Amino acid sequence: MVEQYEIRRFTPAAKEDPAYPESVAWMRAVAFGFHDARRSDERVDRGLEMQRADGRVMTGAYQTGPVADHSLGADIPVATFGTMNKTLNIGFGRLLDTRLVTAVTVRTSHRRRGLLRRMMAEDLGMARQEGLAMAALTASEASIYGRFGYGVATSEQSIKVDTSARFLVNHTPVGSVEVADPKVLLELAPVIFDRLHRLTPGSIGRHEFYRQFVSGSISRDDGEDPKVKVALHYGPDGDVDGYVSYKFGGWSSTPYTMEIVDLVAATRAAYLELWQYLGAIDLVERVTWDEAPVDDPLKWALSDPRCVDASEPRDMLWLRILDVQKALTARHYPADGRLVLKVADPLGLTGGTFALEVDGGAADVTETEDDAVDLELDVAALSSFYLGGVHPVTLADSGRIREHTPGAAFLAARMFAVERAPHCLTHF
Ligand SMILES: CC(C)(COP(=O)(O)OP(=O)(O)OC[C@H]1O[C@@H](n2cnc3c(N)ncnc32)[C@H](O)[C@@H]1OP(=O)(O)O)[C@@H](O)C(=O)NCCC(=O)NCCS
Repeated sequence: MVEQYEIRRFTPAAKEDPAYPESVAWMRAVAFGFHDARRSDERVDRGLEMQRADGRVMTGAYQTGPVADHSLGADIPVATFGTMNKTLNIGFGRLLDTRLVTAVTVRTSHRRRGLLRRMMAEDLGMARQEGLAMAALTASEASIYGRFGYGVATSEQSIKVDTSARFLVNHTPVGSVEVADPKVLLELAPVIFDRLHRLTPGSIGRHEFYRQFVSGSISRDDGEDPKVKVALHYGPDGDVDGYVSYKFGGWSSTPYTMEIVDLVAATRAAYLELWQYLGAIDLVERVTWDEAPVDDPLKWALSDPRCVDASEPRDMLWLRILDVQKALTARHYPADGRLVLKVADPLGLTGGTFALEVDGGAADVTETEDDAVDLELDVAALSSFYLGGVHPVTLADSGRIREHTPGAAFLAARMFAVERAPHCLTHF
């Protein structure tokens, strides 16, 4: 069936470019795939501008045979797949270039004909050829991407925080918080985020959309978002080291609720002090955040930790190692040791048996055929514990890892640990 389609790749075109209509059709197909309302031409154009700033590549699948009368034309892709390269913090301040996969849609009338499989396999192969060792995505459904070698590496949760009189953060401020014009985030958000990015394992470098979105300059639909408000945190030296972007839930919310759009703090003090600010907003008794860390310092800083009502954790960042040797060598390891890993790869990109030898925190990784295997696993399981956020012993207990040497999964847990619980604040 797959032969009925042609896959085309292109970069987002500017308005004066003859290829502009092709880019617009691709954008509209993505919006259709995610059930979005039809956006104005101006909004689509802003979207394309942002895509150009990110250096994105658009992939589309187009019908090559006859198209049904009165249906969408052959110039509208039946499937879309978007990519860009950003960095991933892999612990201890190290940043690894990573292929981000996004905008995956297949038109309902063309699904389950292998289009996603074809686009994914081709792109991951190209990413590996470009020298990238890692791919990442966030998933709409948890059942789609494991088969391509992706594993869950970080989780997030939604929280509702009771900020009535019982809300007390045990922290003596070292800085201060001031309200600002949201537009200052156009300039400040990327700078503050970059500091957090370098400190947080699991963090993915942000795309252009974020500074526009958190400053209210763009909304998910059309135009600006006039509801967005912003407060900045100033450190003891007066530098801005954190911000919160937030919106009032309206006078019909019960209790009156403030919704966090984005909370980025480059220091521990900034994080707690922004929460003190949020807790002090008058007339409001609840603050909600949909991207809260699972391992959240806020809970431990509160006099009454039950002020935080958290949802079940949700999978957030999915990783897919494209080159085991390169990815393992890139990491810093807090514990020395030797592990022989037999890695299966469903797409045949990087399977094999690898001896990982860590001495003084640095890895020497070699392919081997003679060594006795300690752990046998597929690349999705390795990608899951690569960042230290998922415990290899748990994966072994679940059957996702076969432990041939007793204690090898626990050794992996110590070697792959990172300095802080991984968390990813970038949705893409
Ligand atoms: C998810 C989606 C992209 C799948 O596209 P598709 O072209 O139908 O997928 P393929 O035909 O290439 O299927 C590849 C494999 O994935 C499986 N699969 C696809 N979608 C699946 C799903 N939602 N749940 C479970 N398995 C799924 C197929 O059964 C097939 O398995 P196999 O190769 O082992 O036989 C498509 O259904 C879609 O557009 N959904 C709505 C938008 C969306 O959720 N996008 C993902 C954003 S992260």
